[in-house]
Amino acid sequence: MHKDLEEIIISAPELEAGIKKLGERISTDYKGRCVTFVGVLKGCVLFLSDLLKNISIETNVDFIMLSSYSGRQSTGVVRTILDLKQNIEGRDVLIVEDVVDSGLTMSYMLKNLKTRRPRSLEICTMLDKPSCRKTRVPIKYSGFVIPNKFVVGYGLDYNELYRNLPYIGVLKKSAIKAKG
Ligand code: IMP
Ligand code: MG
Repeated sequence: MHKDLEEIIISAPELEAGIKKLGERISTDYKGRCVTFVGVLKGCVLFLSDLLKNISIETNVDFIMLSSYSGRQSTGVVRTILDLKQNIEGRDVLIVEDVVDSGLTMSYMLKNLKTRRPRSLEICTMLDKPSCRKTRVPIKYSGFVIPNKFVVGYGLDYNELYRNLPYIGVLKKSAIKAKG
């Protein structure tokens, strides 16, 4: 385990198994269709690449980058930093997110992408922190429900560090101070 972590809450094999299951569910649900996976940068990268390996239907992949967080606190203000390259009108769109916390980011995303008139629009999140919700968001696919703790690894960062860890863990208080 990385020295800055207090504990590992989701191990690499647990992630692998959970993501495989999600991929199979999505492939079954959208059978015969082509799904546009919209990855929310940068947290989605490890999750999205592992998810795609478990998808057996036709896919498109695109990315969007939003800003809402700095350090550990949500500012509540969401902006689009990098927009989709593709036109999603009439398409089946699946948003791929690392974690839904307050829900503000996903609620902004849904509102924004809905105006482009996709055929369908759903959310797939690796982690869900339901106890932190400030606004209700409909989540169709969720890998793991986790408690209200700040976690890093597997794409998730703290001030851009720790995205490379192959598991998800809780940061030590001392690391939060030192890297803050
Ligand atoms: P929300 O708008 O509060 O739902 O925040 C969602 C975004 O905040 C996610 O896409 C993450 O990038 C970031 N975030 C929320 N919780 C954590 C965490 O525990 N670790 C790292 N990033 C987080
Ligand atoms: Mg994110």
